[in-house]
Amino acid sequence: MFPLIRYKILDTYEELGRTGAKIIAAQIAEKPNAVLGLATGSSPVSIYQSLIADYRAGKLDFSKITSVNLDEYVGLGGDHPQSYRYFMQKNLFDHVNIDPAKTFVPNGLAADMTAECAAYDERIVKLGGIDLQLLGIGLDGHIGFNEPADSFTEETHVVSLHPSTVEANARFFESADQVPRSAITLGIGSIMRARKILLIANGPAKKEILEKAISGPITPRLPASILRLHPDVTVLYTEE
Ligand code: F6R
Repeated sequence: MFPLIRYKILDTYEELGRTGAKIIAAQIAEKPNAVLGLATGSSPVSIYQSLIADYRAGKLDFSKITSVNLDEYVGLGGDHPQSYRYFMQKNLFDHVNIDPAKTFVPNGLAADMTAECAAYDERIVKLGGIDLQLLGIGLDGHIGFNEPADSFTEETHVVSLHPSTVEANARFFESADQVPRSAITLGIGSIMRARKILLIANGPAKKEILEKAISGPITPRLPASILRLHPDVTVLYTEE
């Protein structure tokens, strides 16, 4: 029914990393100055490790790449160890030859969040859009921090995090009270306008929501389900 979604099940998390990295490497080979939409969280770590290994082996060049991250916690600066800017530096940017001036993450400390959101969308338009968007999926079906809602929000915006998201992300903080309650996220519009989408998930806890996203109703109550209307989506899943 939705032939353009490619769904691949991998045996291990490491294999998911290698397979995802190959898709990103193919994008860089096709367009050395591609705009990559990147994600944080635990799912993409093995992809980033594989990309770093390929870079060190001389197989990848990030010098012309621009990256645009999906989201950032409101209230955390880039030097906060739980900020998504910090995550990206430690898990990818510090280890490859990407130009730091071409790595964009929303500013969680912006004094005017409305202006920050509008400027983020404008920047993506000026860059010519996202060539390949990497996405994880939340236990509630969120993509970026587009949480279940009554309607889809197109633009970059500030969201209140769903209690299940706060709980799921508490593992990265000393306690759940320290998890910021809001985040700035790319909207569904910029995600859907990306030319290619790579959605990844690992672990049995994600299986049910992933399958619902792929084969249940398309609804803002399960934000990832909108990806079925996108013409070029690859889903990688491993139970590990
Ligand atoms: C992260 C992001 C989130 C995560 C999702 C899955 O930048 O936008 O949507 O992708 O919460 O997180 P993990 O991979 O930690 O299970």
